[in-house]
Amino acid sequence: MARNCLAVVLAAGDSTRMKSSVSKVLHPVGNWPMIAHVVSAAQSADVDAVALVVGRDADNVAAAANTGLAVSTWPQTERLGTAHAVLAARDAIAKGYDDILVIFGDTPLIAAKSLVSARQAIADGADVVVIGFRTDAPDGYGRLIERGGQLAAIREHRDATDAERAITFCNGGLMAISGDKALRLLDAVENNNAKGEFYLTDIVEIARAEGGSVVAVEASAQEVLGINTRVELAEVEALWQQKRRHELMIAGVSMSAPETVFVSHDTMIEADVTIEPNVTIGPGVTIRSGATIRAFSHLEGATIDAGCTVGPFTRLRPGAELQNGSKVGNFCEIKNAVIGAGAKVNHLSYVGDADIGAKANIGAGTITCNYDGINKHRTEVGAGAFVGSNAALVAPVRVGDDSYVASGSVVTMEVPADAVAFGRARQTNKKGAAGKLRERGLAEKARRQKAGK
Ligand code: UD1
Ligand code: CA
Repeated sequence: MARNCLAVVLAAGDSTRMKSSVSKVLHPVGNWPMIAHVVSAAQSADVDAVALVVGRDADNVAAAANTGLAVSTWPQTERLGTAHAVLAARDAIAKGYDDILVIFGDTPLIAAKSLVSARQAIADGADVVVIGFRTDAPDGYGRLIERGGQLAAIREHRDATDAERAITFCNGGLMAISGDKALRLLDAVENNNAKGEFYLTDIVEIARAEGGSVVAVEASAQEVLGINTRVELAEVEALWQQKRRHELMIAGVSMSAPETVFVSHDTMIEADVTIEPNVTIGPGVTIRSGATIRAFSHLEGATIDAGCTVGPFTRLRPGAELQNGSKVGNFCEIKNAVIGAGAKVNHLSYVGDADIGAKANIGAGTITCNYDGINKHRTEVGAGAFVGSNAALVAPVRVGDDSYVASGSVVTMEVPADAVAFGRARQTNKKGAAGKLRERGLAEKARRQKAGK
């Protein structure tokens, strides 16, 4: 789009109904602050700059909104209504833009295409464009009053007549305004209404009164869902998850029980990945083609290459990198560690701060002892090494290529390549001792019973 555009994003609310110690726009949807979703939609709608109107938590809100676009912040010190909030960014608007978009920071499902169609309507000659939606439960929303193909007014629920309240076409709260008229229209808004606030919605009638053109474009009710409470936050999360899973499945990802799989905003999953039920994927995860994530696994900050198998019941923590065809099995935890191509960590292991070579086999119950109570240390296991079950690898330590570590070993020294390391006490067998052991036990028990204990 050759026209330039400023998005004014309103995020100055007190978030009272959220009952939270932080601004509601910082609460995550898909593990990303809702304000970031909004700014990202603006970015996808080809917006050039964002003017963020902030109240509480201004610095944190500004930081969360910083997703790549130029964001300036404008404090609104008193909450005198949505038009007043937009005017907090007066100096940004005054710089001169073709289109001004007004977007609420608590509406994270807004789609770029709705913002684009609002901008298009401005390009086609409208002075004000309102993004509306249809609902069977319009209570609380401003009603869109249309006359002869134009929007005549928006009536806030509290100010509406019974006939107006019967209207089910409502204001989603988002608008586009022609840049050259925006400040004049906003400055003309007054606060003589039920709430005594400066309503952004009044610019509809003001623009019409001076012979301007005002139209509504329609978005889905889901897109304009505003979050006020944690109940709505959970509803929006569910809708967002449903949409992302749908997109992933359409793109070639198999999920047998998609409603039990949770992803994050930046989750990357290639085609031909299979995800079993009850998998949670936190931020920073990439899963490449042909990998299988088995049931009840929890992944974050992990890269899983082609053909890997993870789980069931695996936890991958940040810095886990599973190379081609490697396998991490049940009840294993991997943190900040590379599992080389074709390597196996199959059962009940903790591998942290480690480099496991290609085709190495890490036996059941192996633990990398990476922490001495003060510092973290690395463990290296060479390619083709075989670490027996229940070994403790006390870092910093290296286990050489193609070596063996006997099960139950506590490895505190380097194991050279091709060596076999025994780090455990030698076993001794005492002939016939089992019977004596039992006799001693029975005698002890009898003594206790006699003493009445
Ligand atoms: C607003 C619309 C209503 C629409 C509804 C959709 C107005 C007057 N009404 O009503 O037509 O149907 O949204 O959800 O615009 N804010 C500030 N500073 C202020 C006032 C508000 O930053 O002084 C922010 C709020 O934090 C919020 C947004 O603007 O993110 C909307 O304000 P809110 O009071 O929730 O408006 P509604 O009554 O929901
Ligand atoms: Ca609202």
